[in-house]
Amino acid sequence: MNNILGTKCMDAYIRLCNRGVEQGWHERNGGNLTYRMTEEDVLECKGYFNAVPGEWVKMNVSAENLANEYFIVTGSGKFLSNVSLEPQNAIAIVEINDAGDSYRIVWGLTDGGKPTSEFPTHFMNQSIRKRVTNGENRVIYHAHTPNVIALSSVLPVSSEIFTRMLWKSATECCVVFPGGVGVVPWMIPGGSDIALATCAMMEKYDAAVWTNHGLFVSGPDFDIAFGLMHTIEKAAEVAAIALAARGGKAPLNVISDDSLRQIGEAFGVKLNEDVLNFKSEDCMYC
Ligand code: 13P
Ligand code: ZN
Repeated sequence: MNNILGTKCMDAYIRLCNRGVEQGWHERNGGNLTYRMTEEDVLECKGYFNAVPGEWVKMNVSAENLANEYFIVTGSGKFLSNVSLEPQNAIAIVEINDAGDSYRIVWGLTDGGKPTSEFPTHFMNQSIRKRVTNGENRVIYHAHTPNVIALSSVLPVSSEIFTRMLWKSATECCVVFPGGVGVVPWMIPGGSDIALATCAMMEKYDAAVWTNHGLFVSGPDFDIAFGLMHTIEKAAEVAAIALAARGGKAPLNVISDDSLRQIGEAFGVKLNEDVLNFKSEDCMYC
């Protein structure tokens, strides 16, 4: 076992994997996690990097603002439930080159393997979140959250409708994600289409539902990213129970638009006006 595992960033990374597994979000190899390391993290871990780094691997995506960054990544096909048991075989640290278009493994995946198949999506969205949050966001986390997946198969594919359902089902949702949640239609996992569609969402939202697949969130640290995933999935669970109890009809007593505005004022957060003012015949929550 390598001492790199005792470092602050590795510890927090592994803890998030365990918390997601405890929630039942990571069947088999489902889900993936990337973390853009700070300079201090890199300094702390560098002494444990492989003496000879792996070969550079060119990606079909590039991002200048991620040149020379280091990421902790889950391996493709690796089980998040094994991350704490054998981290050196389930996760890796990758370095990005000067051009921001290639990576090489500098630690981990010792039994072989490569970063998650969703790495192009994580990479492009890490770039966007770094830009739109002025460098604050570092974590991108994807999980197979059952209630979000179930509701994505019964609601219209609409960011506004999905957000209104969550906000109106559980009181503190609009404080945790006042910008709302984006919804991406069903797409092939790991492809460039899902990467681009998610990027369009991540310009304005810090979470995107992948229809019939799961949820993709971004945050400044592991706790905030996990908390966002957890809050959205829990609100989806509440909404699903309420909808089922009513036989699929609109629940009778959800939080009104005026009450949402009052929550925003009371907590000093600005709610997404496009979502608040959204009206549609297809929307059970309008
Ligand atoms: P990976 O094992 O390649 O990370 O894929 C899991 C997944 O959830 C794809 O969306
Ligand atoms: Zn997935």
